[in-house]
Amino acid sequence: MANALSISSQEIPFPKTRFSPEPPGPRGVPFLGSLPSLRRDPLGFFTGLSESYGGIARFSVFQVPVWLVTDPAAAEEVLVSKARHFVKGRGLQVGRPIFGDGLLTSEGEKWRRQRKLVAPAFHHQRLAAYERVMADFTTRFVEGLRAGETRDLHRDLMRLTLEIVAKCLFDADVSKEAKSVGDALAVAIREFPKLLNPARRFALLRLPFPAGLELRRSLRTLDTVIAGVIASRKASGEDRGDLLSMLLASRDEDGEGMPDAQVRDEVMTLFLAGHETTALSLVWTLALLAENPVVERRLARELAGFSGDTHALPYLDAVVKESLRLYPPAWAVGRVAAEDVAIGGFRAAKGTSVILSPWVAQRNAGFFADPLAFRPERWQTGEAQGLPRMAYFPFGAGPRSCIGAGFAALELKTILRTLLSKARFVAIPGQDLTPQPSITLRPRGGFRVVVTAVTPALPGMPAAL
Ligand code: HEM
Repeated sequence: MANALSISSQEIPFPKTRFSPEPPGPRGVPFLGSLPSLRRDPLGFFTGLSESYGGIARFSVFQVPVWLVTDPAAAEEVLVSKARHFVKGRGLQVGRPIFGDGLLTSEGEKWRRQRKLVAPAFHHQRLAAYERVMADFTTRFVEGLRAGETRDLHRDLMRLTLEIVAKCLFDADVSKEAKSVGDALAVAIREFPKLLNPARRFALLRLPFPAGLELRRSLRTLDTVIAGVIASRKASGEDRGDLLSMLLASRDEDGEGMPDAQVRDEVMTLFLAGHETTALSLVWTLALLAENPVVERRLARELAGFSGDTHALPYLDAVVKESLRLYPPAWAVGRVAAEDVAIGGFRAAKGTSVILSPWVAQRNAGFFADPLAFRPERWQTGEAQGLPRMAYFPFGAGPRSCIGAGFAALELKTILRTLLSKARFVAIPGQDLTPQPSITLRPRGGFRVVVTAVTPALPGMPAAL
């Protein structure tokens, strides 16, 4: 099949008279454009843009045109019906020194082949086995807690979700390396946004400044751990039926195996994409429950004494959906037009950056009544039925949507269920939980709690978490 990105612009009809030249938007300041507003408060800037200029707003950063598309029909064009006219956003493209060229960042035929190869690992038939791993690892984590101690659940849950993804997909127990891998990943995630700026990128990747040295050391740590996982599997020659065995056993049309560097990139991508988002979503859910005792009590009633299938917990399901609505860890998704393309009646020239934002869409009063309230019931009463497809898309949409969405939903529910039925926490009051939008949406200072009780099976939960 021809590379979809090579379709010439002649194949896209452009009746120019139908298109107004460009969407409305702020001028910003000379040269920098809207960079200062964007830097100051990205979430507020995007929300304000959509309120002031409508479903397609234009701004610029260093004279590069950027569109914020919040109109659901136009957003669907970008991610779904005209997806082939776009490539991944610049934010991810510059992440290649970290992710490599794995599923998240690759394009065209290469991406298509890799997606097909990786997909069976996320098939729903595999999820039952993963659920056991998720519950067992969470139980092990709870058993390590002590009543009376203070914990940063953000850090703890990052480690837990990392161990789970490594065990489920690569049958690797990284608990021994979890601290060094966790620290290295944290550095990579922290430094990632700086790669967007060419001068800072050069400094980070080439010059002997502390931040760059730390990043490069962290990448070497990750590479060493991943190389170790791959080498020991290769040496064993075993087919354990997991994703790593699938990657190692794959052959291209010429019968060639996948190069080690490509296996490394896929493993790194899944390590990164597969744990931070889930950990953040758990943190936001626990913080929301701590602030909403009525919801928390209702959830406790559903969980109390329940020992069946995680799928049979409808209120837990609604709690997770509502948390992903208010705090979508992937708060913005970017694309770049690979050629001229018509979006929502406007004409995006090749090279235009386009941003879609679950944060803005999912807090829109036009789609969700009382949009800032944490009300899981809205997912049960039919209120959220009939929404346009792009009013709620925490896992993206279209061909590049999250391959781990089913895995993540199961993991969120299994961890919450296990955690909340075996331990009690009280959130430390007065913490700054302002969402900090980096590549993902994280709480500024972590999420600190006091563990008030740990027992193998608590009959129900009190008002505190
Ligand atoms: C709450 C948890 C998660 C959220 C909110 C989330 C969100 C997303 C979003 C929005 C995208 C689309 C990005 C785009 O269109 O540019 C995406 C892609 C992706 N996600 Fe997730 N994700 C989560 C968990 C996971 C997990 C658990 C895994 C793997 C174990 C994973 C692996 C991936 C991969 C590999 C892609 C790229 C898919 C492709 O381009 O074909 N994610 N994720």
